Amino acid sequence: CNSKESVLEKDYINIAHRGASGSTPEHTYAAYDKAIKQKADYTELDLQMTKDNKLVAMHDSKVDRTTNGTGMVKDKTLKDIKKLDSGSWFDKKYKGEKVPELNDVLSKYKKKTNFYIETKKPDMYPGMDEKLIKDLEDNTILKENDLDNGKLIIQSFSETSLKNIHKLNENIPLIQLVDDKVVKSLNDKELKNLSKYAYGLGFNKEVVNKDLVKKCHENGLKVHVFTLNNQDEVKEMKELGVDGAFNNNP
Ligand code: G3P
Ligand code: CA
Repeated sequence: CNSKESVLEKDYINIAHRGASGSTPEHTYAAYDKAIKQKADYTELDLQMTKDNKLVAMHDSKVDRTTNGTGMVKDKTLKDIKKLDSGSWFDKKYKGEKVPELNDVLSKYKKKTNFYIETKKPDMYPGMDEKLIKDLEDNTILKENDLDNGKLIIQSFSETSLKNIHKLNENIPLIQLVDDKVVKSLNDKELKNLSKYAYGLGFNKEVVNKDLVKKCHENGLKVHVFTLNNQDEVKEMKELGVDGAFNNNP
């Protein structure tokens, strides 16, 4: 018996973009803790993969912007990455924050939040999708009941990555992120095809309008929007009928 109400039943889901990244350094434990305090429905995690095939939460493929190091994540081992400070760039009071390993985030937060995970640059990282499923399995995130209740959503701009994920576990809700340039050309046939594997689509807020939301809904697709910062933007997006949004200040 599945008595817990699914977060996916909500009219609008509030996704903490890279954690509460408006007020804390993105993809740090401080950012995830704050997102939970701000009552976000989901914590978003962007993934990169190290030289020794470990998944870490970082938006960029280079460490330069958000740590005191330089270079590509793919050229560093997890041990190298763990030496970096990922808080000071934002504010010296966050000195000592570390780049989180996915495995640790899942085990530390699985009882506290739902996860909305993005495979970044999966073409650059062979084996990324398989490693993601392995980490999720190892942390018992893939129980059917939990998936029904919205414990996990996986998103990507890569259709190949999403389809790979579904080959490994067909119960995971998938969000196909849509490049701004192709939005205008999305017709009913394409939306129908997307709905064969995707739970919904992710759009930049600049390209979303009522008509687009309606067309997606008519084809059985949810609409999630990136990236909001304040209440006015949330109100505006809710008026368009979107089903959720990424927010820097969840
Ligand atoms: O995942 C979609 C949303 O997060 C916006 O994209 O660049 O912040 O990963 P980005
Ligand atoms: Ca993202």
